[in-house]
Amino acid sequence: MTDSIASASARANMSEMGKIIAVAQHKGGTGKTTTCINLGASLCDMGKTVLVVDLDPQASLTVSLGINPLQVEKSIHQVLVDPNVDMKDAILRRPTLNFFVVPSHLDLAMAESELVGKIGREKTLHKKLAPLKEDFDYIFIDCPPTLGILVVNALAAADSVLIPIQCEPLTFYGVKHLLQIINLVREEVNPALKIEGVLRTMYDRRTKLSEEVSDSIRQTFGDLVFSTIIYRHVKFAEGPVHEIPINFYASRSAGADEYRSLAKELLTHETRKA
Ligand SMILES: Nc1ncnc2c1ncn2[C@@H]1O[C@H](COP(=O)(O)OP(=O)(O)O)[C@@H](O)[C@H]1O
Ligand SMILES: [Mg+2]
Repeated sequence: MTDSIASASARANMSEMGKIIAVAQHKGGTGKTTTCINLGASLCDMGKTVLVVDLDPQASLTVSLGINPLQVEKSIHQVLVDPNVDMKDAILRRPTLNFFVVPSHLDLAMAESELVGKIGREKTLHKKLAPLKEDFDYIFIDCPPTLGILVVNALAAADSVLIPIQCEPLTFYGVKHLLQIINLVREEVNPALKIEGVLRTMYDRRTKLSEEVSDSIRQTFGDLVFSTIIYRHVKFAEGPVHEIPINFYASRSAGADEYRSLAKELLTHETRKA
């Protein structure tokens, strides 16, 4: 595995360190996993070297990429709780894609209790992930929909956080709690943490409500909001069946276009200040 990382990183810009982006929201079903997979794959298509870390015990990113979490030799769980396991030991490469994954496992649910009481527990992921910034252009952390020690670890390890919000009523009020945690993490462990951007997802063109929610997201978060909107498409629901990102099984679809556009925004815009 280390060899293929080395060859992949030959394409990476060696003069610059990669960027770690936590994809987080205090809610399930907002498009975190879909964004990690499809934004990551779009960046791969643009020649970037990408690693995605599945930090959700439900392992939906792992499963969506056709990996059986029960059969993986090493998962993010061992990386976090065993000082002798490096992040590199757990990296898998999808056979046909230049796309690297650290899989999850249901055992990760126990990490909350296993990490409690450990000195520096908030920085466990940071310590294991930081050395890989030399090997990858982008590292995405797919967060669980909770606000526990795993998400705190993700925010402590990240350079920035990308927040997907569904364009549906009442969904973005929970973001307040995430912003509170982001501020706490800044105060206590990671003062440099930025907001990469707020991403509007699941926008349904058939409803007036999506437009209204999208407008209020813009009013609330202003310049933090990406111009790209991810609309609701049935093709995304097929993703797990294909076990590959949408730009591989439906490269001409609107959904693939939207994630390509988001990737371009990410490449061209500097991280938003907030
Ligand atoms: N833009 C979209 N349009 C339609 N379905 C989507 C879209 N994005 C994600 N989905 C589907 O919605 C469900 C939740 O998305 P997911 O990315 O797993 O959210 P999260 O990781 O925040 O829980 C999945 O079944 C996924 O396939
Ligand atoms: Mg998810």
